[in-house]
Amino acid sequence: MQTDSTSLKLPIENPEAEDFLPLNGTDHVEFYVGNAKQAAHFYKTAFGFQDYAYAGLETGVKDRTSYVLKQDKIILVLTSPLTPDSPINDHIVQHGDGVKNVAIWVDDATKSWETTTARGAESAFEPYVLEDAHGKVTLSGIKTYGDTVHVFVERSGYTGTFLPGFVPLETGFNPAPTGLKFIDHMVGNVGWNEMNTWVDYYKRVMGFAQLVSFDDKDISTEYTALMSKVMTNGNGRIKYPINEPAEGRKKSQIEEYIDFYKGAGVQHLALATDDIIFTVSELRARGVQFLEVPKTYYEDVLDRVGKIDEDLTPLSNLGILIDRDDEGYLLQLFTKPLMDRPTVFFEIIQRKGAKSFGKGNFKALFESIEREQERRGTL
Ligand code: FE2
Repeated sequence: MQTDSTSLKLPIENPEAEDFLPLNGTDHVEFYVGNAKQAAHFYKTAFGFQDYAYAGLETGVKDRTSYVLKQDKIILVLTSPLTPDSPINDHIVQHGDGVKNVAIWVDDATKSWETTTARGAESAFEPYVLEDAHGKVTLSGIKTYGDTVHVFVERSGYTGTFLPGFVPLETGFNPAPTGLKFIDHMVGNVGWNEMNTWVDYYKRVMGFAQLVSFDDKDISTEYTALMSKVMTNGNGRIKYPINEPAEGRKKSQIEEYIDFYKGAGVQHLALATDDIIFTVSELRARGVQFLEVPKTYYEDVLDRVGKIDEDLTPLSNLGILIDRDDEGYLLQLFTKPLMDRPTVFFEIIQRKGAKSFGKGNFKALFESIEREQERRGTL
């Protein structure tokens, strides 16, 4: 069993979101990858991300290269080291390709860093200013679970491409977007018995509140189980479910992640679309692989979720899952891991009123994941 231990043991003091830390939304997500040039081609071709920005040898950066891709509000940064002594190598050796920096757009990156570190966050880096002819951006960072960092980004009316030091990326090759709009939520996997530590961290350090709760009895199958709590900030634009493994007859998929990622880290980014049938049709046509859903799922799904706007046939053909809560329903499905290690994946989600995360689909989902684990021999 791999766990990622932490010394953070914070009391639960503010049960409701307390917006002492105004967060405007997700700014970007940076992956550390073995080959950013090739990864950029994959995310463009398979998911429809577009050329946005670049930094590397041609822009005077000696130790790394970053390809920045954009689709509507989603910005992905793919960064690889250029030298053997870069600490980025250590991250890749340890974790494989994975999410390093989850950047949050704020009005004041200095105050965000001061407030969160005063509340118990460990600093990743102190505030500093990047500047070029288009203006300035202030960045600061705090550590969260595993080796993951939250970067605070204060854009101060910056008018350049992405960040000072970056130039527009112009490859001349941009397959069409697939309708992905923004990051709906981002899920972290943490080690055994560490969920509440990190729930407390988001409450205490970031002022988040818990959105919904369900226990491992809700999310378990014969073989696998997990516990999950959803943390959200005051304006609701940032939603971070935190998972920990739970005991099952065989290895939990969260434990499999922790084993291969070598610790806690980002498990999935949920990307929102307002036309999931179009988006998933496009993604499948471009070779994106999704977790398989048993056909039997569709035999009784409408008994569970009631009336929906869509015809069931295209949803069934595309393997799209349906769930309902008190406020509406949602459509979702999950890609297979995006990299060689069975770690990070994307969720594609379309909300039709529902504010939850597809709890009713967990059983169907996990049974599907377990079939994948069985093929990998890691159950
Ligand atoms: Fe999700």
